Order: sequence, then C-alpha cells, then structure tokens
Amino acid sequence: MIILGFESSCDETGVAAVCSDKGLLAHSLHTQVAMHAHYGGVVPELASRDHVRRVIPLTRQVLSQAGISLSDVGAIAYTAGPGLAGALLVGASVAQAIAWSLELPAIPIHHLEGHLLSPRMALPCPEFPFVALLVSGGHTQLMRVDDVGQYELLGETLDDAAGEAFDKTAKLLGLGYPGGPALAKLAERGDPKKFDLPRPMLHSPNLDFSFSGLKTAVMIQQKKMLENPDINGNILADLAASTQDAIVEVLVAKSIAALKQTGLKRLVVAGGVGANQSLRQRLLSRLKRIGAGAYFPPLDLCTDNGAMIAYAAAQRVNRGLVDLTGQDHGFNVMPRWPLSQI
Ligand code: KG4
Ligand code: ZN
Repeated sequence: MIILGFESSCDETGVAAVCSDKGLLAHSLHTQVAMHAHYGGVVPELASRDHVRRVIPLTRQVLSQAGISLSDVGAIAYTAGPGLAGALLVGASVAQAIAWSLELPAIPIHHLEGHLLSPRMALPCPEFPFVALLVSGGHTQLMRVDDVGQYELLGETLDDAAGEAFDKTAKLLGLGYPGGPALAKLAERGDPKKFDLPRPMLHSPNLDFSFSGLKTAVMIQQKKMLENPDINGNILADLAASTQDAIVEVLVAKSIAALKQTGLKRLVVAGGVGANQSLRQRLLSRLKRIGAGAYFPPLDLCTDNGAMIAYAAAQRVNRGLVDLTGQDHGFNVMPRWPLSQI
C-alpha cells in the first residue's frame, strides 16, 4: 500500500510517499527558517499560513517524483501532535480532506513516533528492541522501543531540551535562529576544553537530563567576554565548542547508562540534534568500545519531514495497528500529547 504523509507540526512543511513494502518513494520539504529568522524564533501564526501556501505544491512534487497519482494512494497519514495547534491543523485538515474525497483511511501519527522510527529507513536497519535517544528542539528523551507502538520512557529532560540548549546558547552568541547548526559549525574551529562548563545531572542515578543551568553558565562566560576588550572570534568559537562538548558528553553518558540499564546493544538516535557530527562521532566510538551499535537516520531525515510520518504510518499498517475501515473524517490535533498515550 502507498501512504501519502503530511508533517506540519512546527516550521517545516513535509510531504512524502512511502510504500509499505518498498519503503520511501519520494519526499519533499519546505523549511520556514528564513521567514522566522527575522523574529529570532518561530511565529506560530506565520507558520500556519505558510503551511497553507506550501502543502499542495509539495504534494504535487512528491506525486510526480514518485511517478504516481492520487489514485495509487491507499491511505493518508498526518502529524496529529505534539506541536503548534494552528500548524498541526493545516496538515490534519488537508490530509483528512484528501482522504475524505478519495474515500481513503486517514492515519493520525505522533510526531515523536515518526522521529524514533525514522532510523529504520536507513541501512543497516536497526532491529527491535533498541534504546532511542530522541533529541529535538522540544524533546530530550530516552525510550525503550520493543516494537512499533511499544515505547517505554526511561528518562527525559526536566527543563530545556538539548536542541533548545543549542538554540538558546547560539542566540546568546549572536548566531541567530535556529542556532543548533550554526553553533555546531562555529564549534568546529574552537577548543572544547577552553571553558569548564557544567555537565548537569551527569552523575545522577537516573536517566533524566537538565540543560537550563548550562545556558546560565554560558551567559556568565559571555558577559565576561563582553567586558573584555580583547574579545576575538576564536574565543566565541571556543565557547561554542565548550558548550557543544558539555551537551554531547551528557547525551552520550546517559545513552550508555540506558543501554546498561536495559541490557540492550542498539542505540537509535533521532530528532534534529541527531544531525550533530560531534554527537554522531562520539557515540559511534564510545558504543563500539562496549560492543554496542549506534544508528542514525539519513542526515536529511533528522529534522522534521514528511517521510518519517508516512513511514511510521506504514509500519503501523504492516503491524495491523491501524483501523482502515469506517472513518468519519472528523479530526482533532493534540498540541501536547505524551508518547506514552498513543
Ligand atoms: O527534530 P527537529 O527538526 O524539530 C523538533 O521536533 O523540535 O529539531 C530541531 C532542533 C533545533 O533545536 C536545531 O537547532 C537542532 O535540532 N539541530 C541541531 C543540528 N541540526 C539541527 N543541533 C545541533 N547540531 C546540529 N547539526
Ligand atoms: Zn521534530
């Protein structure tokens, strides 16, 4: 069965076609980063309006790239939450309208389920069970994943998400929005040991995280730098590298602790921060030492996209977890939706 999937939970409009046997056929994405950069963050109303503008042209693109027409599609999937209410409603209403007009089933998908199954689109495909490190702009969670739909929360952040820590420190350093990739780029030419920044909850006995203290520590260092007339570009790069080092060290240590606690040997990394090269490299080398493997989605599928939504729906269909009959096409979105409640 071919599934057409829509993602519109935040500032990316994503559409994709996935075949439940053959995998990804085509996907197309429009990022609103340039539009929101002007305001230093996502403006929800603008995000919704832009999704409205983009979603149909992207759908046409995907159908043509996949070489299919709407009559080949067997089900429509969309992100039902969590995310921005207005933005989610755009994808949900377009998906439900197409499904209703073609008399197809519509499948609501949890955004984080999309992220955590997305590394299975890459080769080698991680087999179940595995530990998933979900690191996005809004979430930092360690999950035990036994199968599609079987998720157990092992630990999560008590305050800021890892992506938020990247974004907020990047903003402090004047790197604009979204700061994660910019901070990672600047960090490449900095010394990660130059600033002794805190590693919050590194040695706590649980698998929870906390990143808000790190932001305060960076703010203090940044103030000191501003008071110093000899400030130069390299010190900024050193601070970026030291911040990245602190975030990555905590993420790696907690991931290893989660593998030890569960006795599992596979770690799947998903979400925007999973694109971070320092995190990827350090996880690969540390996990190799303990005989475990790290799995990542393809780089272009780390951040939000429609492929992960269509793919999660396909996996649910393959497992018989979706009711494909008798839909009335009324719908709801859930801006706050714990993964444990799907
Ligand atoms: O998964 P995602 O696209 O959106 C959410 O669901 O939140 O993740 C976006 C987050 C942002 O905080 C962004 O700064 C971060 O992922 N990010 C990165 C990198 N690329 C994206 N953080 C660090 N290094 C990167 N290379
Ligand atoms: Zn996301």
